[in-house]
Amino acid sequence: MSHLSVNHLLGIKQITKQDIELILSTAQNFKEVINRPIKKVPSLRDITVANLFFENSTRTRLSFELAQKRLSADVINFSASNSSVKKGETLVDTVNNILAMKVDMVVMRHASPGAALFLAKRVKAKIINAGDGAHEHPTQALLDAFSMQEQLGDLKGKKVVIVGDILHSRVALSNIFCLQKLGVKVKVCGPLTLIPRYITSLGVEVEPNLRKALEWCDVANMLRIQLERQDIKYFPSLREYSMLYGLDKPMLDSLPKKIVVMHPGPINRGVEITSDVADSSQSIILDQVENGVAVRMAVLFLLAGRQND
Ligand code: CP
Repeated sequence: MSHLSVNHLLGIKQITKQDIELILSTAQNFKEVINRPIKKVPSLRDITVANLFFENSTRTRLSFELAQKRLSADVINFSASNSSVKKGETLVDTVNNILAMKVDMVVMRHASPGAALFLAKRVKAKIINAGDGAHEHPTQALLDAFSMQEQLGDLKGKKVVIVGDILHSRVALSNIFCLQKLGVKVKVCGPLTLIPRYITSLGVEVEPNLRKALEWCDVANMLRIQLERQDIKYFPSLREYSMLYGLDKPMLDSLPKKIVVMHPGPINRGVEITSDVADSSQSIILDQVENGVAVRMAVLFLLAGRQND
């Protein structure tokens, strides 16, 4: 099989294990390409991609843009903060105006869960979800799985704990769907106020004790506390949070085996992870960022190759 089962990448929930494996193996080829002296290939020549960011981003926006340029696509960038959205223009009007400029693919980050699906139903372009509120962040989960595979090989039967603000995290949900499809055992760990009640219905175990979670896992994915999405106080203080759920070097060094430490970024150093852990040899945070370009090249390439049904 050399094509995806979907026309858009809206979430990991909608794609199959075969889709994930195809994206990861295609990304492996692109990783080799971008490590050559000439990093550019003509695969998306004549394709125009619009990057629409209605929410802040550093890694995802730059990584998509670099992936598009490495594939020779024409790229236009849009940030809501300096656009006519500020004058009251709706999402569909904004996007239709951009599509009138003959855009083939749209990469969109938006604060509303379901925004990418909403768009996919209304406009004629391939849509890639670059994060929709607290719902999904599919390319982050794919680059995380790719980075884990580089460290551990086949992920089937491996154990991953996702630590922190699960309730507000699109990275957590996409990772859970992706890792489970690849046969990984997933636990979540954090204050019970930040763990949604439905999580066990996804087949995910809750481990409230950080030490026990870390002693169990092969990989710890440390998430940021998303204060910008928290309308009430979910824990007494950041100091208490970091004492109970922050990963520091003495804790890491005291574990019975060497685990892999991940973080999607942006990091709050000293809250969910200390600097010496983030910068340690067990941390693959910058590998995740590097792999994001190859994984996004794979997603763009595979979606561009499929005609709308
Ligand atoms: N990991 C991630 O989505 O980072 P940005 O918000 O900087 O894109």
